[in-house]
Amino acid sequence: MVKLLILPGDGVGPEVIAEAVKVIEALKRRHGFACELDYGLIGGAAIDACGVPLPDETLSKAQAVDAVLMGAVGGPKWDQMPREIRPERGLLKIRSALGLYANLRPCFCFNELAAASTLRPEVLQGLDLLIVRELTGGIYYGQPRGIVQEGGVRVGFNTERYSEPEIERIARTAFDLARLRKKHVCSVDKANVLESSQLWREVVERVAPSYPDVELSHLYVDNAAMQLVRAPRQFDVLVTGNLFGDILSDIGAQLTGSIGMLPSASLDAQGRGLYEPVHGSAPDIAGRGIANPLATILSLAMLLRYSLRAVKLAGTVERSVKQSLASGLRTADIARPGERVVSTSEMGTAVVERLYEQEI
Ligand code: IPM
Ligand code: MG
Repeated sequence: MVKLLILPGDGVGPEVIAEAVKVIEALKRRHGFACELDYGLIGGAAIDACGVPLPDETLSKAQAVDAVLMGAVGGPKWDQMPREIRPERGLLKIRSALGLYANLRPCFCFNELAAASTLRPEVLQGLDLLIVRELTGGIYYGQPRGIVQEGGVRVGFNTERYSEPEIERIARTAFDLARLRKKHVCSVDKANVLESSQLWREVVERVAPSYPDVELSHLYVDNAAMQLVRAPRQFDVLVTGNLFGDILSDIGAQLTGSIGMLPSASLDAQGRGLYEPVHGSAPDIAGRGIANPLATILSLAMLLRYSLRAVKLAGTVERSVKQSLASGLRTADIARPGERVVSTSEMGTAVVERLYEQEI
């Protein structure tokens, strides 16, 4: 029996998670998916209930399950809190405590949605790239860090650091994934300025000969950002560090028409993982039932594929999402002016209905 931990979190998190849970229930009833759900607190919800963004109970539950499905964390209510107990801290801590170093953020354009992007549809038709972001190192975690007094002024500082093994393992993840795709890895760094990037590039180069069937190229991050909006279809797998990956994956999200469409997986060396939509807690629309649940439902599909190796079930969920879009259903974020808009739960229900129609 598969065990999943559900962490709804804050903002639109609980709303979009509720739709993913509907999908899980449908997989159980219609497709014989045997799983047990447990729930936990993270982020602002955890701060309100227990004073910390990642209670020990949540972490030990997460360590005991096959995979974790999360909504989102954060919101203005907790923005003024000290950094150590802000909601985002809970997310950073669970990533690090579970060793989830490989963050997979696929960006693909459903052709039905090409018109929803701010870029021209012909630039996006057929887009299918994968950002592989290193998630437990780099400047997010590097020491020393802090804000100090120096000669009467305050100075804030952080440390970007990557060790050879950290770079090597994420490079191998990227090459392995490229083998299942178009066999091209583009490594993104700032090796013209930063020593950490210089080492990054050296190590990626050193790993490359073990994958003679995969082509490797390099881009500086500023150029990569430009290329992503200029001609995004040139990319297959992009591999990069924590901060660059954070930034580039928001660009990637916008390419697909809406950040409301993008799933993500954060994996450890054994393929255990945490799955979450890229969109975050969206406090401005929380509680109104209008958030797009598809990124979370697609995150569930990634969970089925990567942690449970239930490839057929994953395909069924993805097909149901595609069919819902093809039938014209649009949440507010992906609707064009004049198009009828459905609510979060109408979209979830539509996916569930398609799921019941599928044979696997
Ligand atoms: C993301 C988010 C997080 C990050 C925040 C919420 C800490 O932006 O997952 O991309 O910076 O990693
Ligand atoms: Mg981000």
